[in-house]
Amino acid sequence: MREVPVAGPWITEKEIAYVTDAAANAWYRRANEYYGRFEKTFAEYIGTKYAVCLPSCTSALHLSMAALKIGPGDEVILPDCTWTATAEPIIYQGGTPVFADIDRETWCLRPDAFEAAITPRTRAVIPVDLYGNVPEWDAILDIARRRNIAVVEDSAEAIGSTYKGKKAGAFGDTGVFSFHGTKTLTTGEGGMLVTDREDLYKRVLVLRDHGRKPGDTGFYFEEIGFKYKMSALQAALGLAQIERVEELITRKRQQFAWYQRELKNVPGLRINVEPPETRNSYWMNTVVLDSKYDWPKEKLQKQLAAAGIATRPFFYPLSSLPAYKDYVRPAIKERNKVCYDISPWAINLPSALSLTEDDIRYVCDELKRLLGARG
Ligand SMILES: Cc1ncc(COP(=O)(O)O)c(C=O)c1O
Repeated sequence: MREVPVAGPWITEKEIAYVTDAAANAWYRRANEYYGRFEKTFAEYIGTKYAVCLPSCTSALHLSMAALKIGPGDEVILPDCTWTATAEPIIYQGGTPVFADIDRETWCLRPDAFEAAITPRTRAVIPVDLYGNVPEWDAILDIARRRNIAVVEDSAEAIGSTYKGKKAGAFGDTGVFSFHGTKTLTTGEGGMLVTDREDLYKRVLVLRDHGRKPGDTGFYFEEIGFKYKMSALQAALGLAQIERVEELITRKRQQFAWYQRELKNVPGLRINVEPPETRNSYWMNTVVLDSKYDWPKEKLQKQLAAAGIATRPFFYPLSSLPAYKDYVRPAIKERNKVCYDISPWAINLPSALSLTEDDIRYVCDELKRLLGARG
């Protein structure tokens, strides 16, 4: 049977050459070369002053929380529908996640929902560029500035997306990226923290190396830090990928165009949007079924899997999950109505960079056949 993967990278001879060189030579005097090149190229691409490569996006979020001194008693607002890693680092620091509602079209944090969730304890907000979509940044930043709230942009899924010409990741006090194997740009596992703030940059460099200042080779520790470092082999892979990033995004956009063409006449189905003045890098091609189909996402996934088509569920509202039971505000389903409306009926379709036009036609034909059979 045909097998259509849900996610996966695009690796060429360039990546293999860089990683081979790193394995052979990125030691002794050349030990730091690939980190430096990867960080510099990445910062230039995003348009920020600084970039720090890390072992994951989760660690980049953790360092953001730690550098902003989020601690017990502090509240951090985030969209209710996102990956669990957006919320966990708030709790690592002893802070409280506050889940707010998303926009029906972009599936990102809604400015009015953000504002309504603010209390005197709110210290930060983490808007998420979900599946490559971007939120209404002007409105979000305006609220954050007026209310003196720090902004951490979770751009894990949105490398190359833009809002009014500015790259995703560049909007907050810090921005964070994931290079997990499912992402558009991958290092296997890995992440990056970007910022324009020199104070945060310097603090992150200390915190990510056991509390030592960069270059300090003494063993005299003045504070507790973390060990969050990427390997040179990963940085070499990342450098090759960032040098090809526009090629990767062009492929993603082409794949989305194929989905759009194949699905445009299907009633009761919504897919990713690209509002004016934005560019969507379409990490995950996503469909939201009209609830009239009465077809829970888990069942639809099972049917597609029977045809060899791998999918992922749209994120469950974090506030609905056992892991977050201690952080649920009263009447959460009414407050976060859009999350609770959309999540049961939405899935991510196959979005691997390896997919051909024919693969995507196969997926859409199967989806249309299944939907047609339900009338
Ligand atoms: C929105 C979001 N935030 C954070 C992360 C965490 O990334 P990582 O797995 O690199 O720690 C992911 C990863 O999938 C994500 O999708």
